[in-house]
Amino acid sequence: MPSTSLTTGNRALNQLVTGFFGNVARAYDTAALQQAVYKPPQDQVVKELRAAKSRRIADIGCGTGILTTRIARELRPEVVYGVDASTGMLAQARARSSEVRWEHSAAEHLPLDDGEVDAVVSTSAFHFFDHPVALREFQRVLAPGGLVAIATMHPSAPTARPIQRLTRSPLFPAHAPSPRETRKLLEDAGFRVLDQRKIDRPIPSWLVPDVITVGRRT
Ligand SMILES: C[S@@+](CC[C@H](N)C(=O)[O-])C[C@H]1O[C@@H](n2cnc3c(N)ncnc32)[C@H](O)[C@@H]1O
Repeated sequence: MPSTSLTTGNRALNQLVTGFFGNVARAYDTAALQQAVYKPPQDQVVKELRAAKSRRIADIGCGTGILTTRIARELRPEVVYGVDASTGMLAQARARSSEVRWEHSAAEHLPLDDGEVDAVVSTSAFHFFDHPVALREFQRVLAPGGLVAIATMHPSAPTARPIQRLTRSPLFPAHAPSPRETRKLLEDAGFRVLDQRKIDRPIPSWLVPDVITVGRRT
């Protein structure tokens, strides 16, 4: 098994991002924030995992582990990993469940064996990753035919487009790829994309416009 590492590829300032989340970890679990922003994509991921009957699951950029713990409780898989590069977020996660295997590691260097899991999921975190490097890792740790489900932000308003273009540079700490870019990134990494859809939420969706992309390892 590769050793735990915080090597995060080329996306700039990622340690500042994960450090930031470490500092806000307690506030992160506020019920209203979770309900409006983070829960809707998590609901979609649970739906996909249930439909795929996944048994060995990794949640990448798991944060305080709300989705990961829910997967353990509701789906009763053989194993579920929660992986995050922020010590503060993981401390909250560890306190939440002892059923999950928590791993302090970067998405770009996963501490999992080749083909070890049959599903890799990620909610509200992919925009911080070095996409091609992380997707290569997702492909490596997935068994053939394994499920990938990524929910990530995509500001679709025309006014957001110049910023979107700018953030493509790895010098920016985050880039939210468009649905088309996400599809291409997955296909280039060897996934077959099966579905892409907007995520409904209880607040106007333009406030947090995210899209889930579902695929299979070829
Ligand atoms: C907005 S939170 C989302 C957490 C969780 N998935 C959820 O739905 O609530 C983003 C998380 O991504 C993590 N993160 C950012 N860059 C990362 C990287 N390169 N590798 C692993 N985790 C990363 C941050 O530490 C943070 O916990």
